[in-house]
Amino acid sequence: MPNVPSPTKADQFSFGLWTVGWQARDPFGDATRPALDPVEVVHRLAERGAYGVTFHDDDLIPPGSDDTARAEHIGRFRKALDETGVVVPMMTTNLFTHPVFKDGAFTSNDRDVRRYALRKVMRNLDLAAELGAKTYVLWGGREGAEYEGSKNVRAALDRYREGLDTLAQYVIDRGYGIRFAIEPKPNEPRGDILLPTIGHALAFIFTLDHHEMVGLNPEVGHEQMAGLNVVHGIAQALWHGKLFHIDLNGQRSIKYDQDLVFGHGDLINAFFLVDLLEFGGPDEERAYEGPRHFDYKPSRTEDIAGVWASAEANMRTYLLLKQRAASFRADPEVQRALTASRVGELSVPTLADGESYVELLADRSAFEDFNIEAAAARGYGFVALNQLALEHLLGAR
Ligand code: GCO
Ligand code: MN
Ligand code: MN
Repeated sequence: MPNVPSPTKADQFSFGLWTVGWQARDPFGDATRPALDPVEVVHRLAERGAYGVTFHDDDLIPPGSDDTARAEHIGRFRKALDETGVVVPMMTTNLFTHPVFKDGAFTSNDRDVRRYALRKVMRNLDLAAELGAKTYVLWGGREGAEYEGSKNVRAALDRYREGLDTLAQYVIDRGYGIRFAIEPKPNEPRGDILLPTIGHALAFIFTLDHHEMVGLNPEVGHEQMAGLNVVHGIAQALWHGKLFHIDLNGQRSIKYDQDLVFGHGDLINAFFLVDLLEFGGPDEERAYEGPRHFDYKPSRTEDIAGVWASAEANMRTYLLLKQRAASFRADPEVQRALTASRVGELSVPTLADGESYVELLADRSAFEDFNIEAAAARGYGFVALNQLALEHLLGAR
């Protein structure tokens, strides 16, 4: 047995009910697995060391349930939480399955649909507060279009903002202390989704009335579907103080949303992502304190045993990458390579303390006497540094 640490609650691993519970229905084929009872999911996750479970309203309470049935579903679930000590760090709303949302929720052309969507979220926010969730995710999978002429994008963004301003005010007035996290995705199910990447969502957030309450829930695979480097995206989200939550999974290049196990996509990128989250703070401490949330789908080929094996695989991979990242950082050879690459030098401000452009203009060594040929000739040694990372990742060091 390789030396893989067992997950504990301190690792803060969480899973959506819709992840392990996915019955593997896809556009071409029927379900390959039976439905899982949310109560069983909580127990199975707890046994495996997860600390949290997350869900959409409809994952727990089947749509159409009357008040009595609703209370029963919540009651059984609460009991499972109490028995296992599993927490609900995040909740979200299903604003995509029912045909009423076929043109979106907050940004549907149909105003009645927009009003219904806000009510659906508010109702579930009450439950989120009751269950102690701190983060409320908004994934706008149906907020988008297939045809340019069918959606006035500027009006849609007005309505998106109106929706978020309204919900933020609701949370403030009720004293819920919940923060919102927008989850960008470039496409699927819509041809083009609004707020398609981390960057688009960040720009939008800063226009909101209560922008301090709204951050991001970036998903590894979603940025990769847009051909972007998710480590860079997460770093920028952290830089803005907007990494409120994260969806970890795997994706192989620009194609449909694969939702593979974390690390089963771009492994080197996953290594550097774990390194950033776990050791990216100013003193090599955690750069992100929230849940390590897996939003993956057990592949359609797997049976129930395969579902639980894949859930474990997410946590094992994360912990292995954490171990590998620690060994990378502790290696003196890596330290020397980092110095040779002048990685740390980027943290030194370009102007000296108290210096302005006036002193810079007066500094002949910066320009008139600067030996640009010598500077241009210096190599950065980035390839050697990356090879060291790879060798640590492969367990060769
Ligand atoms: C997807 C999304 C969803 C969201 C979930 C939470 O591509 O289907 O990642 O799984 O994360 O709806 O809001
Ligand atoms: Mn996804
Ligand atoms: Mn997601």
